[in-house]
Amino acid sequence: MKTAEELFSVKGKVIAIIGATGILGRQYCMFLSKEGAHVAMGDINIDACNELAERIRKDFKTNPLAYHIDISEESMIEGFFSAVESKYKRLDVLVNNVQTKPEGFYAPFENYSMETLKKVLDANLGGAVIASQKACKIFLRQGYGNIVNIASTYGNVGADQRIYEGVKNIYFPGSPFSSPVSYAITKAGMINLTRYLASYYREKNIRVNCLTPGGVYDNHDETFLRNYSYRTLLGRMADRDEYNGAILFLVSEASSYMTGSNLIVDGGWTAI
Ligand SMILES: NC(=O)c1ccc[n+]([C@@H]2O[C@H](COP(=O)([O-])OP(=O)(O)OC[C@H]3O[C@@H](n4cnc5c(N)ncnc54)[C@H](O)[C@@H]3O)[C@@H](O)[C@H]2O)c1
Repeated sequence: MKTAEELFSVKGKVIAIIGATGILGRQYCMFLSKEGAHVAMGDINIDACNELAERIRKDFKTNPLAYHIDISEESMIEGFFSAVESKYKRLDVLVNNVQTKPEGFYAPFENYSMETLKKVLDANLGGAVIASQKACKIFLRQGYGNIVNIASTYGNVGADQRIYEGVKNIYFPGSPFSSPVSYAITKAGMINLTRYLASYYREKNIRVNCLTPGGVYDNHDETFLRNYSYRTLLGRMADRDEYNGAILFLVSEASSYMTGSNLIVDGGWTAI
């Protein structure tokens, strides 16, 4: 029987995280590096990615990769996985963590443009499909692999638009705040992409699971914080390190009999 330490160990694992420098990606990269994993970070913000790699190298003495990638560009995804293979000679886990908020992201449904919709579909969902396709080619060659897709509460249930009424938009000051249709459909897509891939690669020793996080506190408007907190059973938003345990479970052997599942960590939002 393995010890808890052995079960949850990621020491020496090569974990690719695309969307690595934002609120949660940064947490996952730092936390998994602290546990001894080598993180291959792909992000559109290469300066932030380089800076994070430098910090990880210095603090945790692991061997991170910082790579410039726009996940809506197939050739850049290809380049990322080639760089991963040539640096590490293998890939243990892929985490699809990107979300994008292009111009017009918060527009009301009536005015939502095809241009904005396509940009979000391409990055949030199309990118995850193509990244999974490239990763699985490596996984099939090496005989094992593991994908973690990142969804959201609003991929599981409809957005509660009431909590945004009269709330300031901290991400796009001046724009009204709401949860847009592009987010809802791409995050729901991540959950069924997970099931599709788990089934497609059945019996190939490739596991595919989804993590559904709830909202993380990010200096939100007080009204929003109060409204959001009321909708959860724990009565608060998450701290940014509160998904580290869930991600460790999914990327490690601790979840070895789990595939095609969606792990919901949302403070109880969807329990009522
Ligand atoms: N923060 C939350 O409250 C919350 C809640 C539920 C789900 N999530 C999900 O968790 C994930 C991470 O959330 P976050 O809050 O850290 O997001 P974030 O916006 O802070 O970070 C997104 C990351 O993706 C990168 N990115 C954006 N467009 C890209 C592109 N085209 N190509 C490559 N990289 C690109 C950004 O540079 C950034 O590093 C997202 O998928 C999000 O939907 C977040």
